[in-house]
Amino acid sequence: MNDNFNTNETDINVNGLHIENSFMNGLNDPEDRVDGRAKVTGAAKYSAEFTHPNMAYGFLVGSAIAKGSISSLDTKAAERAPGVLGVITYLNAPKIPGYDAGENPAKGPTWGGGLKIFNSDRIYYYGQPVALVIADTLERVHHAAGLIRAKYNKETHTTDLEQNTSKAAAPKNARLGDYKRGEGDVYKTALVVVEAEYRMPIEVHNPMEPHATIAVWEGDKVTVYEKTQGVKDTQRSIMNAFKLKAEDVKVIAHYVGGGFGAALRTWPHAIAAVMGARKIGRPLKLVLHREQMFNNVGYRPEAIQKIGIGATKEGKLTGITHEAYSQTSTYEEFTEGITAMSRFMYACPNVVTKYRIMPLDLSTPTWMRGPGEATGAFALESAIDELSYALDLDPIELRLRNHADTDPERNRPFSSKYLKECYQMGADAIGWWTRNRKPRSMQEDGWLVGYGVSSGTFGAFRGGASVLARLNSDGSLLLQSAVSDSGPGTATAMTQIASQSMGLPPSKITFQLGDSSLPPGPTQGGSMTTATLGSAVHEAGETLKAKLAELVVTAGHFHEAKREELVFSEGGISMKNDPSKKISYSELFKAANIPALEITQESKPPGGGNYSMYSFSVHFVKVRVHPSTGVVRVARVVTCGDAGKIVSPKTAASQMIGGVVGGIGMALTEEAAIDHRYGRIINNNLADYHLPVHADVPHTEVLFVNKPDPIINPMGSKGMGEIALIGFAPAVTNAIYHATGKRIREIPVTPDKVMMQS
Ligand code: MOS
Repeated sequence: MNDNFNTNETDINVNGLHIENSFMNGLNDPEDRVDGRAKVTGAAKYSAEFTHPNMAYGFLVGSAIAKGSISSLDTKAAERAPGVLGVITYLNAPKIPGYDAGENPAKGPTWGGGLKIFNSDRIYYYGQPVALVIADTLERVHHAAGLIRAKYNKETHTTDLEQNTSKAAAPKNARLGDYKRGEGDVYKTALVVVEAEYRMPIEVHNPMEPHATIAVWEGDKVTVYEKTQGVKDTQRSIMNAFKLKAEDVKVIAHYVGGGFGAALRTWPHAIAAVMGARKIGRPLKLVLHREQMFNNVGYRPEAIQKIGIGATKEGKLTGITHEAYSQTSTYEEFTEGITAMSRFMYACPNVVTKYRIMPLDLSTPTWMRGPGEATGAFALESAIDELSYALDLDPIELRLRNHADTDPERNRPFSSKYLKECYQMGADAIGWWTRNRKPRSMQEDGWLVGYGVSSGTFGAFRGGASVLARLNSDGSLLLQSAVSDSGPGTATAMTQIASQSMGLPPSKITFQLGDSSLPPGPTQGGSMTTATLGSAVHEAGETLKAKLAELVVTAGHFHEAKREELVFSEGGISMKNDPSKKISYSELFKAANIPALEITQESKPPGGGNYSMYSFSVHFVKVRVHPSTGVVRVARVVTCGDAGKIVSPKTAASQMIGGVVGGIGMALTEEAAIDHRYGRIINNNLADYHLPVHADVPHTEVLFVNKPDPIINPMGSKGMGEIALIGFAPAVTNAIYHATGKRIREIPVTPDKVMMQS
């Protein structure tokens, strides 16, 4: 057990999580995860773990070319193999009515299909499913899948972004179009100039839980157990694809073993499973293998970015030009805000951004934690660091001199911004001010030592959601909403909000999620679950209390009471100024002749606010770099968040630590390598695609400003899933520069890059 593990009443230090004492009241007790026990005991059931009588098993056979068409498909041997119940290909696939509704190929969000699986002989990417084999056991389906023989008309594929940046074009998505504030390319005329190119490869989400679908038809109704970050989104996708009504499609995802964005869409394999189950008339389970997770469920696209940045000799920015080149597939346009952060992060009068995408013969990329901004921050925050050394100015000082007090992109105030506090508390915690600022000046035990800093930001969003709340006569509270939890601890955070609102201990509250038949909740993406659903839970509490106050009066109890004069607690309701006047919930409900008090709360963000809403983070990293092997070890991390008021301290801190783990991978190890001769990812397994392991992750301190945002929602909480990762990788590469004097502009920084750079 960690020596620092200590959860007494007045201080908390869990895995490096430090929280001020004043913070330890009411809402913000460091509650354990409400589903922690179920998860560690194995009682929590993930999508692939469900089973049904007569359930069959599916396996997807992938194409062996990256571009072309299928010339012949021989499925006879597979069909004759023992236990095989069916083989579905484009030649015999049942019609998916939704395929005809949209353009060809179908666009993402309308029904989430993207690639229309088994709809034609066209091949758009290596590993694209060409056959779904179904058998009565997993072993038999694997055997039969090996008997499928496909021949192709191969066409010349293009999978290399670097060789094709000149062909990249502006996206159709106008929000990500070219941007100009002030004059163009002003940086070139500045006294101090940094001009550099930054590269990063494809990264793959690789959640521990692979994607899995179990489809169970009963007549014309289907229940789908699916790994998804949005049960309502998946329900809608299946409704749209199969032209079904909402009451005929039920999507279940009680637990999700990590998503990071890979489960934000309903991917073609899920459509195939639903199609296959209907065709054979039996429940069907389809689980993607790890190799299939590399090219069928999205990835963070490769990016080549050019930054030009200029400053006065006092370190005032005069111009930023940020150009980004990235990729999409040939059958869909995927875009993300790679250049977004450069527009508003610093108070700079002249900013130009340009974003170009190149359609490649690979599957469509998708959002991956900190989508867009994590990529953009690597370039921008590296360039700012380079500029600080060019100016001989501390990198934090440079950032402070160019701090944007208001949003320079939209010319309006931020709803809240405590970025300066993040710099301050993190710098103090890691001992930033006592380091020797000169590169390659610090050593420990024969290793070069360096410190790096970087900031991150992401929009703080709030959407609409609804929640059912039922207060029972024993003072227990049931909450339900159709939201998924991919790991951050949604049920825990919602329990804490309800506990605060209703004066009930968390043990009396149950939060149910992961079922599309519950009242519609948000998709778990874009760091907006707590801000969105938390608002609904908070408002549900207000509604319950208002109704209870009415019941108190109509039931003839302390009938002059106004709601503000009542105290709500586990035992019931009492008068604030006279605690002897009280009534239990069971008495109250009996008097009102109702079994329980149940409401469905709908919550919408109030419109019309003229604010820019963002969360901010600052990451501090200490690295050790071995001078003769080039090995980089992250030795210490202090990560600071301005995510508004922290609702659930333990799960929030874990979320930040998760971002650090992802950030270490991004900086040092993660890279999907494509063999362009075949257009395929060759390290498509966890042995060759290197995710950080425990030994790679040092002691991590998480610090929160913990000041409420007055605008975004009643809790004052801003999102934090994305900012945990955004900006972390450049903090590492900046630290490597400080340790070695070598500026490495291509991640991941593997030892060869450290050694080869002079
Ligand atoms: Mo996140 S990329 O919004 O799952």
